[in-house]
Amino acid sequence: MAETTTAPAPAPIPAHVPGERVIDFDVFSPPGSQADYFGAWLALLDGPDLVWTTANGGHWIAAGGSTVRGIWEDAARFSNEALAVTPGLGEVMEFIPLQQDAPEHKPFRSAVMKGFAHQHIVATEPLVRGETVRLIEAMRPHGHCDFMAEFAEILPVHTFLSVIGVPPEDRVRLRPLGRQLTRPDGTMTVVELRDAADAYLEPYIRERLASPGPDLFSRILSVPIEGRAWTFEEAQRMCRNLLFGGLDTVVAMLGNVMMHLARHPAQQERLRQDPGLIPDAADELMRRYPTVAVTRNCVETCEIDGVTVERGDLVYLPSVLHNLDPRSFDAPETVDFARKLTQVRHSTMGAGPHRCVGAALARMEVIVVIEEWLARMPAFTLAEDARPTFRAGNVGALDQLALAWQA
Ligand code: HEM
Repeated sequence: MAETTTAPAPAPIPAHVPGERVIDFDVFSPPGSQADYFGAWLALLDGPDLVWTTANGGHWIAAGGSTVRGIWEDAARFSNEALAVTPGLGEVMEFIPLQQDAPEHKPFRSAVMKGFAHQHIVATEPLVRGETVRLIEAMRPHGHCDFMAEFAEILPVHTFLSVIGVPPEDRVRLRPLGRQLTRPDGTMTVVELRDAADAYLEPYIRERLASPGPDLFSRILSVPIEGRAWTFEEAQRMCRNLLFGGLDTVVAMLGNVMMHLARHPAQQERLRQDPGLIPDAADELMRRYPTVAVTRNCVETCEIDGVTVERGDLVYLPSVLHNLDPRSFDAPETVDFARKLTQVRHSTMGAGPHRCVGAALARMEVIVVIEEWLARMPAFTLAEDARPTFRAGNVGALDQLALAWQA
């Protein structure tokens, strides 16, 4: 897949794109993103709200908060079918519900939402807490860790595999697949990636369609689609979507949350003294560290920010350029636990009809991790000389995060 993420030569610029809107910006590798992922994206806020990059085959990037949010919410003119600027990915993955548009999307999404209903999230919490405590207790005596390898890459995948009722040890086999989808490194083609996920899931899907149990996939597949049963092919596309949705996004979020707390000892201490603040702190940290970017394809030619976006154009929507735009949020880079997020909606979990179905599960995981980490660990910092490094992609994430504390 390497050739799909680094265009060897810039793509030709379509006639409707004004020259002053053209830049060369590779969304899989924004300049400087390895050391400062968020800063690398924020450079785009200095220009117009909609720019055209010649990288990765040529596509628009929404580069201002209200434009990112506006297009995200405009499902009538911007379709989800394309999935990504990575060529071929959408055609091969055919995710349900992510790549569906109205009206087809609604019954499938509603079935998936039922699977993630509040009581199921509440019932999952002890499992998340138990694994969190186990991981923390194992590393505490060492006085240091690579938080990504020893915690963030384990907990969310363990959680997801447990809720779908498969052996959590399979995490070792599945984790690299999530990474390949969102930050491909060229070692697998898109088709190989889909086939690897399908091969793993197939026996479970057949079993759950035939005799549903209490697990997440069974719950969803038990909800009829407009009065009929799910077909095997639909079930496969949905389970594939959930597998990829649940593998990488929470990993990335936990890394950023812990990096922030390591760099801000006063906020760490405040939450230790007053754990009741942790849910609000989790919401604010999730706003501050958005790492998902999505792609839409325009299905109706329209004017945006003074330029014509033509039917068929791809538009890239980085959530970071909504959440960290000072025109959308006051002092957006400041983490303020008292920020009233109910009044201003952020885009970390998306917007409009495709807003994340796993949002409540992800939020619960972030809250539990902060609670248990602060209750069980002494004050912690970035390890001396540590420089967290990032890999950009449709989900940007830390590669490693060295933390230290007094053992
Ligand atoms: C912090 C963690 C997470 C983040 C930042 C995140 C982010 C997002 C975003 C931005 C979207 C919107 C996509 C679009 O508009 O095209 C989305 C949708 C989705 N997410 Fe998540 N997500 C997270 C966790 C999860 C988890 C844990 C799961 C499942 C276990 C999941 C499953 C999905 C699915 C299935 C959709 C598609 C919904 C639809 O199309 O109706 N996500 N997510």
